[in-house]
Amino acid sequence: MALTQKDGFSSKFGVIAAAAGSAVGLGNIWRFPYITGENGGGAFLLLYIFFVIVIGVPVMMSEFVIGRRSESNALGSFRKLAPGTSWWLIGLMGIIAAFVILSFYSTVSGWTLEYVFQSINQGFEGKSMDQLNSDFETFTSGSFRPLLWQMIFMALTAVVVLGGIQKGIEKATKILMPILLVLIIAVCVRSVTLPGASEGLKFLFEPHFEKLNFKSVLMALGQAAFSLSIGMGALITYGSYINKDTPLLSTSIQVAAADTLLAILSGVMIFPALFALGVGNTGGPGLVFVTLPAIFQSMPGGTFFAVAFFLLVSVAALTSTISVLEVVVAYLKQEFNISRLKATMIGTISISILGVFCTLSFGPLKDNTIFGKTVFDLMNYLSANVFLTFGALFIVIFTGWILGKSNFVDELNKSGKVNPVVTKVLFIIIRYIAPVAIGAIAIGTFFIEGLT
Ligand code: PHE
Repeated sequence: MALTQKDGFSSKFGVIAAAAGSAVGLGNIWRFPYITGENGGGAFLLLYIFFVIVIGVPVMMSEFVIGRRSESNALGSFRKLAPGTSWWLIGLMGIIAAFVILSFYSTVSGWTLEYVFQSINQGFEGKSMDQLNSDFETFTSGSFRPLLWQMIFMALTAVVVLGGIQKGIEKATKILMPILLVLIIAVCVRSVTLPGASEGLKFLFEPHFEKLNFKSVLMALGQAAFSLSIGMGALITYGSYINKDTPLLSTSIQVAAADTLLAILSGVMIFPALFALGVGNTGGPGLVFVTLPAIFQSMPGGTFFAVAFFLLVSVAALTSTISVLEVVVAYLKQEFNISRLKATMIGTISISILGVFCTLSFGPLKDNTIFGKTVFDLMNYLSANVFLTFGALFIVIFTGWILGKSNFVDELNKSGKVNPVVTKVLFIIIRYIAPVAIGAIAIGTFFIEGLT
């Protein structure tokens, strides 16, 4: 089943914009700062970068290779490349992961819309950190508003996915991502020039390895997978829309570099402000929603910045949510032979139902815990540290041992020959190093720390 030209991305820049759009999102701006905060700062950052390079890039490339070679969705691709085997179960796990991720991701995406609204409506002028903190808690512990925003966000995601790849996803990301980068840099400048900001930079960049424990290693790996959108077939699905002229090696490196840059910049934006404004708490999902408004009110033109910033964070979230929903839609559409419209409706509605439980975890369902975590926390934890981590593990095993070197290298060479030393090293990582490393970290953590 060859794809017609119009289904796919139109250019290499389009591929990068869409894949970077998937990668750059709340994972960078919301999740990275607070996970880094909770895991002690500098040493965690180093570990994170190490995983992006050694595991992230090879897995990303494997996903692109699997997707483009099979021209199929996250599950169908394994069926095509390894017919008659059980490898399609990896794809199934990816589809379940899409549900898990989007359910809590849409909660936080909804919050960003609320903060756009608040910035326009009342601003954050004159509010102390404590006040901002309690405003955040009041809002998130409600039911109606957070649910309304979540549903609006899911609807927006569905609309873009319905628009298809080129006209929806590619167009939006090309224009909006560069603007987001400029705004983040502006906020970074403000943050690092606050009096007392250097403590925050020290926290982010000075490694204290004694602050790491075994679990931080899993958290760093999970965060790298989450932030790069690997391990669940989002990039297999996008890979199936990439034409043969696009070099997969350089694309993967560029996407990973852009994603990492944005995560670090988010840290530079948050930590100096956090330390300068004298709040000791370095963790929790509210971190960004409390700290950013505090920076905005100390900036000239703060309201303008606040509105623009939260709007663009919503867009960054949207370019990620569409890639998650697309996994489910492409699967339903291709495997059950239904229309894009039907597939999008089924996917959106079923994910939204699960999402309600995540959103209500901050209010009415706060005390309903599983393994000591609320539904939101559990989904958030399981997505990165179980689904994406094990997904990445199985993907490299599949590429290294089932797909094999000649298929892998052949696909990488489609757009021009890659240096054989490079492909050799890459394949050694994919076949041996990455599986052993991911397996040891994931399984080791479960033995030492338990499931969550
Ligand atoms: N990478 C996205 C982010 O950082 C989240 C995501 C995870 C998207 C997995 C797709 C697949 O926000």
